Amino acid sequence: AEPTAGQLRTPIVAVLGHVDHGKTTLLDTIRGSAVTEGEAGAITQHIGSTAVPLDVIGDIAGSLVDPEDFDLPGLLFIDTPGHHSFSTLRSRGGALADIAIVVVDVTDGFQPQTIEALDILKRTQTPFVVAANKVDTLPGWNPDGTEPIQTAIDRQSDRVESDLNERLYEIIGELSDEGFSADMYWRVQNFQNNIGVVPLSAMTGEGIPDLLTVLMGLSQRYLKEEMSIDVGGRGAGTVLEVTEERGFGTTLDAIVYDGTVREDDRIVVGGVNEPIVTEVRALLKPKPLSEIRTEKQFDTVEAVAAADGIKIAAPDLDDAMAGAPIRVVRDRDLEAVIEEVQAE
Ligand code: GTP
Ligand code: MG
Repeated sequence: AEPTAGQLRTPIVAVLGHVDHGKTTLLDTIRGSAVTEGEAGAITQHIGSTAVPLDVIGDIAGSLVDPEDFDLPGLLFIDTPGHHSFSTLRSRGGALADIAIVVVDVTDGFQPQTIEALDILKRTQTPFVVAANKVDTLPGWNPDGTEPIQTAIDRQSDRVESDLNERLYEIIGELSDEGFSADMYWRVQNFQNNIGVVPLSAMTGEGIPDLLTVLMGLSQRYLKEEMSIDVGGRGAGTVLEVTEERGFGTTLDAIVYDGTVREDDRIVVGGVNEPIVTEVRALLKPKPLSEIRTEKQFDTVEAVAAADGIKIAAPDLDDAMAGAPIRVVRDRDLEAVIEEVQAE
């Protein structure tokens, strides 16, 4: 359906952190499908996106979230690579984000790309939470699936619980060294001044309900103003990747973060030499809860509203650039839009 004015846009949540600390696994568990298993050498080498609707978040979060309390449509997760050579992609992910999750392996603690992620979020002033991941790897941990972390902790021996607390306080200390005041998320009153730490296991599921609850709460409380955009207005987005799609030629994997892009819209896209002016031939939407980067099946849609991941088919995209801006022209002066794209 065409979006209407007054609708809130989906917040964009970037997932950042050091290589192998569990970013893709966390999204796999939320999606209920495995992307990590299909990754070459098991490291992420691209930015991806996954739209998770509110009712799915409600299902996973269980008793912690009542979808009735929220009027945001869901969350759009951006997966980023943790390997040191992909810092451009991490910055791009950070720049798109309204909020972020910094994933830290609870045993491995802070590592170079953890600190790099914090620097990006500082620079872009993006609110974030810390996921203290892999709690199931603590010796003696007794896993029991996707459940609130307090329930999981109550089931552990005193030794495991104090081991966990020790590691969590280490993470809180490291955050403090980086200039962030942080605490266990259940003790944080004001998430604007304090960083909440959520212990969880991306693999076995404990604590994921808590993470989703904190993200929804944070978005609803602090982002509602920012999310109140003209969802039906002129679309704006960023190219994640330029890809070949059978039957469509060169296409753009993109994030639309403002307004709406429609079929037949005239768009300006940043190119290698100069901005490309073209017309949208088809909008290909990945299936709900799928990762745009690996999805093979798409539905053709007439319009896509922010925020969402979309594959855009249009003529003349061969020189389009990853990271480049996309702007819908519609009733604007074409030259002004070209200049805007050039300036970015
Ligand atoms: P990059 O994208 O390369 O930066 O890595 P990543 O942060 O996406 O890590 P990924 O999800 O690929 O996980 C790395 C490895 O850690 C995989 O073998 C996962 O199965 C494992 N792993 C991730 N999360 C958990 C967890 O909570 N518990 C356990 N036991 N293993 C985990
Ligand atoms: Mg990954």
